[in-house]
Amino acid sequence: MSETSLPFHMKFEPGKLRKEEWERSIKDPEGYWDEKARALDWFKTWDKVLDESNKPFYKWFVGGVLNASYNCLDRHIKTDKKNKVAYIWEGEDGQVKTITYYQLYREVNKLAKVLQDLGVRRGDRIALYLPMIPELPIAMLAAARLGAPHVVVFSGFSAEALADRINNAGAKILVTADGSLRRGKVIELKKIADAALEKSPSVEKVLVVKYAGNNISMKEGRDLFYSDAINGVPANTYVKPEPTNSSDPLFLLYTSGTTGKPKGVEHGTGGYLVWVYWTLKWAFDVNDTDIWWCTADIGWITGHSYVVYAPLMLGLTSFMYDGAPDAPQPDRWWDMVERHGVTIIYTSPTAIRMFMKFGDDWVLRHDVSTLRALGTVGEPINPEAWLWYYRTLGKEKLPIIDTWWQTETGGFMISPTLGIELVPLKPGSATFPLPGILSEVLDDNGDPAPDGQRGYLVIKTPWPGMLQTLWQDPERYKTVYFSRFEGTYYTSDYAIRDPDGYIWFLGRADEVLKVAGHRIGTVEIESALVSHPSIAEAAVIGKADEIKGDVPVAFVVLRGNYMPSDALKAEVSKHIRNTVGPIAVPADIMFVNKLPKTRSGKIMRRLLKAVVGGASLGDISTLEDGASVEEVKKALEEMGGRIG
Ligand code: WTA
Repeated sequence: MSETSLPFHMKFEPGKLRKEEWERSIKDPEGYWDEKARALDWFKTWDKVLDESNKPFYKWFVGGVLNASYNCLDRHIKTDKKNKVAYIWEGEDGQVKTITYYQLYREVNKLAKVLQDLGVRRGDRIALYLPMIPELPIAMLAAARLGAPHVVVFSGFSAEALADRINNAGAKILVTADGSLRRGKVIELKKIADAALEKSPSVEKVLVVKYAGNNISMKEGRDLFYSDAINGVPANTYVKPEPTNSSDPLFLLYTSGTTGKPKGVEHGTGGYLVWVYWTLKWAFDVNDTDIWWCTADIGWITGHSYVVYAPLMLGLTSFMYDGAPDAPQPDRWWDMVERHGVTIIYTSPTAIRMFMKFGDDWVLRHDVSTLRALGTVGEPINPEAWLWYYRTLGKEKLPIIDTWWQTETGGFMISPTLGIELVPLKPGSATFPLPGILSEVLDDNGDPAPDGQRGYLVIKTPWPGMLQTLWQDPERYKTVYFSRFEGTYYTSDYAIRDPDGYIWFLGRADEVLKVAGHRIGTVEIESALVSHPSIAEAAVIGKADEIKGDVPVAFVVLRGNYMPSDALKAEVSKHIRNTVGPIAVPADIMFVNKLPKTRSGKIMRRLLKAVVGGASLGDISTLEDGASVEEVKKALEEMGGRIG
């Protein structure tokens, strides 16, 4: 579809305002951010906007002092937002709770006091392993109030994954729940947490939220119920927000890369908050009458930035849902949009494709006319899904805001901007870089790729929301992000810039998969596979999936005394579920005699992809760098595989 067939009215010169804003930010970044950062409340303003003296460890708003919880709460309770609803929360069983800014402020203060009494001090790390319930943002803000970085672990992760993260972060406290609920079934979070804690000696105390109502065991002296602890402090408790420095870490969030264990992405306070504040305003032009619904789980960066920090700083009312999207039936989301009057929904292409498959009727039976904008994130959106979203939800009137970004970038990077000017949209393109972002598409040699040709997206200058480092691993920070193209931030994403300057994303250029929008490294799945007694060697690749984007497929070589069988497949799947989590379970497990490797011992991943994707033998001759056609053929034979 061409852009001209879309009814977005071009201004006299489309993109003019946006271009002007962008140019101003690039010409004078320090002046620009000096102005923008004043939208937040600072206890002390900065001495220097950007310190570049120790590249690539950039520091923003140096000398500035602020507190994240103060910016999300205290600043509003002095205004007419005091009694405005911060969260409308709905559980899968239909239970609805609303929390005003003032109530949130009270709860956060009480929990901050509890944490303080448990010995939490500025700089201590607090791990959070919770479902999508109000206690999760409350705990994040309470930690932030004390200047204690939080480490949220997605509640779908296994005991082992949880233990790895707690241990790497050296967390002192864990806040968890008895269980979480999906389709009425209880997932025993406390039990998983208990298993993790056997391997995590740094955790001294555990607070347990009663949510699912399942029976749990409490460890004497270590575990206490959240409600008991909260009830023990006066309702009007006030804890002074810690005056944190702009570059003090606000949180660590673990994310997958191409090697080893997940990386602890460290976000600072001042730069990160300024960035998420402005990006949400720019992209969606949010205002006081909005009911904003970011459907992401808070366990991922999207939830950190756009369920918690940005909407709260902006004083918005957010909707939050804990439950399956099709419970009790496939119109659950649209029913909630109608009942709560949601004005903006921000979700993933996987969700859109799933609803597309359920059929239009589930949407059409609801009045979704309160919606005014539709957002997407997490993976490239295919034009079919974009158009379905645009037509069925948007009635061909609402803009689709496709936001490209990463855990590391803190907030949106490339996206349309309702809050500045809406450029004509093209289905499947995230459009242009936001103000402050100087991006480029490079070829293999690091030269700018010609328009229309695939290359790697890089960001050439620092921006306030960027990660500060990898937790306790500055070397890895430098290698992962600044060595592929010396001194330039490498995103690991393939992209194309079209002749109009629009950016199109084509997926990851590394061995990281986006399974239903969730980021997972193939290496993590491989190491989980080889930890099973039957498996000698394993290789995991991504296979395209109609709904989930990517799904992992595993090739495994069994140890001598094991025989391939469906029962073994099932057992291996269960093992992955228990060691990593459900998102990592391979869609297929193929037993092979040998993994195809080059002479230097590298797994021929492209050959494996070709086997799964059904390429022809002719195509494989040029598949692997440095391997001859004969080698590839031989490897394929030895593997016991077939092609084309
Ligand atoms: C992918 C999620 C295309 C991309 C916020 C990136 C996207 C990775 C988009 C980061 C988009 C995210 N279009 N691809 N709009 N948004 N991605 O860290 O591959 O979970 O590198 O952060 O998701 O995933 P992460």
